[in-house]
Amino acid sequence: MLLTAHSMTQHTLPTDKKAFIFDLDGVLVDTATFHYQAWKRLANSLGFDFTWQQNEKLKGVSRQQSLEYLLDWGNVDLPSTEKQRLAARKNDWYLELVAGMTHWDVLPGAFRLLRAAQAKGIRTALGSASKNAQLILAHTRTAECFDAVIDGNSVSRSKPHPEVFLNAARALDVPVSDCLVFEDAQAGIEAAIAAGMQVVGIGHPADLKGADMVVPGLVDLTL
Ligand code: BG6
Ligand code: MG
Repeated sequence: MLLTAHSMTQHTLPTDKKAFIFDLDGVLVDTATFHYQAWKRLANSLGFDFTWQQNEKLKGVSRQQSLEYLLDWGNVDLPSTEKQRLAARKNDWYLELVAGMTHWDVLPGAFRLLRAAQAKGIRTALGSASKNAQLILAHTRTAECFDAVIDGNSVSRSKPHPEVFLNAARALDVPVSDCLVFEDAQAGIEAAIAAGMQVVGIGHPADLKGADMVVPGLVDLTL
């Protein structure tokens, strides 16, 4: 018998939505663990460590903002040129980790949900803080699953600011109240709420306050 980490209960999504907006890291693919490993490697190289719980704060926020949190935890003060260098180093390590990703790394339930949404005429967008989003979509051959892609290259403000989700709704030409967001980060939940959208949390309820519904993974959802 195949054992899976997800719950046996299926949660039904609201039927009145016209658009689904998906976060990428930690929702469609398990790259949140790669971000964690790369940040941990950087912190360790600077002589300190941080907890799994502190890492929750890094989820969903931009590379530069994540570095600011990290340096703050380590009490490290650096000029901005050095910060750029460290952010680039972390990204190099992150890219090494994602280099081997394929179609098979898309998390369980993602393709099924995307196909079900498309079959019902629900528009789909990616709403990610990552500047590597297009690369991950290419590795996993998922770009064609989305009607619009808004990523870290097309926003100026990091989640919890709602810019990424507002841009996605605009790109899809769907009112915010008709959009449903899928997010694994507290910053992302807050961004969706600030955008005026309902949001499904992916992960543990304690880490996803304010979500309209929380499930362990996309595999636990039916449309
Ligand atoms: C988010 C991740 O999706 O993208 C964060 O949750 C990450 O952990 C952020 O820092 C920016 O990603 P990137 O790939 O541009 O460094
Ligand atoms: Mg995420």
